[in-house]
Amino acid sequence: MKVLGIESSCDETGVALYDTERGLLGHAVHTQVAMHEAYGGVVPELASRDHIRRLIPLLERVLAEAACTRHDIDAIAYTAGPGLAGALLVGASFAEALAMALDVPALPVHHLEGHLLSPLLADDAPTFPFIALLVSGGHTQLMRVARVGDYQLLGESLDDAAGEAFDKTAKLLGLGYPGGPALAQLAEQGTIYPKAGRFKLPRPMINSGDLSFSFSGLKTAVLTAARAKEMTEADKADLAAEFQEAVTEVLAAKSVAACRQHRLSSLVVAGGVGANRRLRQRLDEAMAKIGGRVFYPELELCTDNGAMIAFAGSQRLLQGEVPVSARGAFAVRPRWPLDQLS
Ligand code: KG4
Ligand code: ZN
Repeated sequence: MKVLGIESSCDETGVALYDTERGLLGHAVHTQVAMHEAYGGVVPELASRDHIRRLIPLLERVLAEAACTRHDIDAIAYTAGPGLAGALLVGASFAEALAMALDVPALPVHHLEGHLLSPLLADDAPTFPFIALLVSGGHTQLMRVARVGDYQLLGESLDDAAGEAFDKTAKLLGLGYPGGPALAQLAEQGTIYPKAGRFKLPRPMINSGDLSFSFSGLKTAVLTAARAKEMTEADKADLAAEFQEAVTEVLAAKSVAACRQHRLSSLVVAGGVGANRRLRQRLDEAMAKIGGRVFYPELELCTDNGAMIAFAGSQRLLQGEVPVSARGAFAVRPRWPLDQLS
């Protein structure tokens, strides 16, 4: 069965063709980063309009890469939420219209379920059950994943998501958009001061005894530290490094705590912040200590893409889910809690 995946929830347009027998046949992503850069963040209306322009060329590229035609498509999975309403509507209407024209089923997919299952696309995939750490621009969550569709929320951020904290802190330090990768790059040049010294930031909620997170205080702490002195480039790099240490230490500690509490040895990491090298290093070390291991999606599948949506849709179809025929009556859900899926 060949499933076409369509992703358009934010600032990346992703299209992919996944074959349940042969794996990923083709995938292509267009990122709108350059377009939004001038505004310092995503402009929703511009995002929607750009998705419209990109979808058909991306579809053609993916079909060519897969050496398939439209008529080889057996089903279409698309991101129906959470995300930007207008951007979601573009992908949803494109997918539903194409499905109607080809007379194949269309399946709405939860964006975070796509991220969550994306490590299963790798050759060395984890088996159920596992703990998942979802770290994206909009979410920081720990989940217990029993099987496809069975997600138990164990803890989440009470305020900013980890990616959001990276982005906002990058902005404070005068780095461009998107801030996460830029801040991570700067942090690599910085020095970490293990003992109390300059730029020692808090590790929010690390001893809270639960699996909740809070990252909004960190950016304020960064702002206070940055205002306290004239910042040289080296100072900025050190502050970025300390910020990255603070976020990754908390994420690693809580992920390990979740695995211990649920007696599980597999941790899956998904979402854009999962691309962070320091986070990977820390998680690998911490999980090895408890005899467990960490599974990551391929680096290019960490951020938003169509492959994860095609894959999540295919798994639901394999499980026997019957797509509800929308036939013009589809809806998107800009807000959509993952643990409400069944
Ligand atoms: O999953 P994603 O592509 O989009 C959402 O669904 O949110 O995640 C994007 C987030 C952004 O906040 C971005 O700054 C962050 O992931 N990010 C990173 C890195 N690469 C992307 N944060 C830290 N280090 C990175 N290397
Ligand atoms: Zn995402």
